[in-house]
Amino acid sequence: MNQNIKNSIIYNVYPTSFYDSNGDGIGDLKGITEKLLYIKQFADIVWINPIYKSPFRDGGYDIEDYYAIDDKFGTMEDLQDLIKEAHKLGLKVLLDLVVGHTSDQHKWFKESAKAERNEYWDYYVWSDDVFGYCPYKHMSGNSDRDGNYLINFFCFQPALNFGFAEKKQSWQYHYTDAVCQKVHGLVIDIIKYYLAMGVDGFRVDLAGSIVKDDVNGKYSCEVWRKIFGKVREEYPDAIFVSEWGQPMYAVKNGDFDIDFFTHCYNEGYNNLFRKEPGTNAFYADGNSFFRPEGKGEAQSFFEYFLYNLEEVKEKGYVSIVTGNHDLPRIAMGRTPEELKTVFAFILALPNVPLIYYGDEIGMPYERLNSKDGGYCRTGARTPMQWSAGKNAGFSAGDGEMYLPIYDNYKDVNVEAQLNEEGSLIKEVQKLVEVKRAYPELFGCGNDFELISDTYPLVFKRTTGKESLICAVNPSEREYTVDHKIGDVLASSNIEMAEDKITLKPISYVWMKVYE
Ligand code: NOJ
Repeated sequence: MNQNIKNSIIYNVYPTSFYDSNGDGIGDLKGITEKLLYIKQFADIVWINPIYKSPFRDGGYDIEDYYAIDDKFGTMEDLQDLIKEAHKLGLKVLLDLVVGHTSDQHKWFKESAKAERNEYWDYYVWSDDVFGYCPYKHMSGNSDRDGNYLINFFCFQPALNFGFAEKKQSWQYHYTDAVCQKVHGLVIDIIKYYLAMGVDGFRVDLAGSIVKDDVNGKYSCEVWRKIFGKVREEYPDAIFVSEWGQPMYAVKNGDFDIDFFTHCYNEGYNNLFRKEPGTNAFYADGNSFFRPEGKGEAQSFFEYFLYNLEEVKEKGYVSIVTGNHDLPRIAMGRTPEELKTVFAFILALPNVPLIYYGDEIGMPYERLNSKDGGYCRTGARTPMQWSAGKNAGFSAGDGEMYLPIYDNYKDVNVEAQLNEEGSLIKEVQKLVEVKRAYPELFGCGNDFELISDTYPLVFKRTTGKESLICAVNPSEREYTVDHKIGDVLASSNIEMAEDKITLKPISYVWMKVYE
């Protein structure tokens, strides 16, 4: 169990949209390097979405060459500089490991699609006859080779051959077969290449989907264990974070250090934050718990969260995200005051929280025209709003920006909020400072007690004779909580009397109490 990261926060940078250092309208590695000090205020680990050479038909999750940086982002030297500068600040760097599939423009795939057998023939999952039975998501009639190839996500993302849990068709390989072991070897090579450069680890894309026909992730976990086992012989501290959503598999059985808790596999997360009415984004049909109407429920979240916490406690961590490049922004339909309650909640739970770039200022979300395969996700990938200046301070360029900048940038931007008492960014800074100042209260691993799983949410985290009480009221009603008063570490909109806390509408308190 990697103890080094138990009090960490992750900051997620979508590279096209963070900071443009050369004025071409697209964010780049040098731009991220320039902003590392900014990131360090909020986080200990920075995860950067894919930066490899790619046709960018799915935001870089369609990789053409794992060993090249896409021109729009800069060079391998730029990445090395970024790592060096990050380490000087004590920031760890995670890249994105997208190995379930490649782009159909990858040399491996182009070779494997040729009519004649060659050394890449088995790198992907091909049936042996275009007209034959193929009950998987696949492409047909797109190659000289006679066969259909399995795809993982979009049509241009052929699945690499990690094999099947059970061999049912003549053309399938068992995940332990030599051809699949070869693919595992390719993955190990990619990982080691970047770890040798100083990268600290990876966020692993679609981690649960590598072995086909898997049963509760059992065989995919076995493969990851093997891959990580080999890597950790040389790099024992390498960090692996899964995009899976089932920590009870990924962390407990797959040896991932952290698994993201998002919209997948369980409605609990959506029930808290992603059921915004009046929008046509993902799950728009109900009431989030974090809404002033106060009609939501948090039990489904806690049930799944606490179950997973118990399952992974000897092995690793869960990460609750404020957002990511696949989700509508958390600020959608929320005021800064409401967002403060969200941050107070996420940062106090026993987890390794993730802040998606721009959520610390409440960057908005709107349905935008799709760009680079973003579709409804595009609106969450717009340029960072740094200031009220030209291009929101994102770029000095005169041309078109990667994506349009939201009209509200003159008000909602980093610079303005840093100059405004009580702004969201100042609140997030304060919460992070407090969390860092009391690692024994906020770090993963202490005792957790859920006191109330409805309005207001109240939980307690205990270490030795000290406890943290976190009470959050995202609703517009007022509540009182009877509890011994301690030292208030952070709060918004509360009143205290002897043994009683009044949580006014949209409020929270973090309090340290002694037994
Ligand atoms: C999950 C990534 O987060 C998403 O952006 C991407 O489209 C798919 N995996 C396919 O790689």
